[in-house]
Amino acid sequence: MAVMYKCDVRNPEEWRVLLAAAIPDLDFRVWPDVGNPEEITAALVWEPVPGDLARYPNLGVILSVAAGVDNILSDPDLPDVPVCRIVDEYTGMFMAEYAAYYALRFHRHMYLYDENRRQKLWRKGPRTETQDRHVGVLGLGNVGRAVAAKLAGLGFPVTGWSRSPTVIDGIATASGTDGFAEVVAQSAILVNALPLTDETRHILNAATFARMPKGSFVINMGRGEHLVPADLMASLDSGQVERAALDVFEHEPLPQDDPLWSHPGIEVTPHIAAATNLRTASRQVIENLRRLETGEPFINAVDRARGY
Ligand SMILES: NC(=O)c1ccc[n+]([C@@H]2O[C@H](COP(=O)([O-])OP(=O)(O)OC[C@H]3O[C@@H](n4cnc5c(N)ncnc54)[C@H](OP(=O)(O)O)[C@@H]3O)[C@@H](O)[C@H]2O)c1
Repeated sequence: MAVMYKCDVRNPEEWRVLLAAAIPDLDFRVWPDVGNPEEITAALVWEPVPGDLARYPNLGVILSVAAGVDNILSDPDLPDVPVCRIVDEYTGMFMAEYAAYYALRFHRHMYLYDENRRQKLWRKGPRTETQDRHVGVLGLGNVGRAVAAKLAGLGFPVTGWSRSPTVIDGIATASGTDGFAEVVAQSAILVNALPLTDETRHILNAATFARMPKGSFVINMGRGEHLVPADLMASLDSGQVERAALDVFEHEPLPQDDPLWSHPGIEVTPHIAAATNLRTASRQVIENLRRLETGEPFINAVDRARGY
């Protein structure tokens, strides 16, 4: 079995060592030095070059090194083989921490005190009780559930939105188009934890922001293309949205001349809400490589038609 590895944001040696410990005879080839394409039976990737995965005639599985698969499914020449992703409690935990940090920072107006401190201004800002600050969480998968649970644990009333009706203890839920309108209309803090699909692209747009309560907050940690940046900046400028935290962008790294960097109402982080935990993620990859050999169904396979 030869595995093709292509992930520019992580040192391949880290993966090689972990996989080789479990599969000593594993033939691990780092793109673009993949040798004979006919020998490649599995691909372990993040942002593969479009068209490249079609070059391996004996490819049996495509394994994402992360939770998201939009960077794989967007390949117009993607071969017809199963695509699997990482579903990990650590991802949920990290994402929930990020959401909790910004929810509290915004809820308690800490960004005002940052500015006041710079000016040596002793000035108290507005206060809202936690139970009066409604949070909407878009997406109730591995990430969204962890985010919703963490924020509910902090005392925020939380409503989560998913595609299919979902029941979660302690969290209000809604689904479908009507459910979206309801959730957004009550969200003083809106957290996006959706996967990027044709249905969710640009879901954070002018109409969404206009429906939210005035002076609300946006936290995007799904994908950059969920957001229409010009709509967000216009909503911030009008005061409809008070502040936003963005962890993901259509083009990463965010270009130096992108106005999102310098907008006073936007806090930018460099796609750090969560990072793949190699120790736990590698177990899932090893299990799927084993299943490739035995022919058993893969774990964490995505529904390619659905897009996640
Ligand atoms: N910033 C970061 O560092 C970072 C790290 C990890 C992941 N992420 C992002 O987080 C995303 C979510 O990850 P996950 O593991 O939670 O995914 P997941 O388990 O597949 O969950 C996806 C959720 O979104 C819902 N959904 C999908 N399409 C929808 C639609 N059209 N309308 C309403 N709900 C919809 C699904 O609804 P159903 O329950 O009805 O299927 C499900 O609840 C990833 O795809 C990735 O983009 C970002």
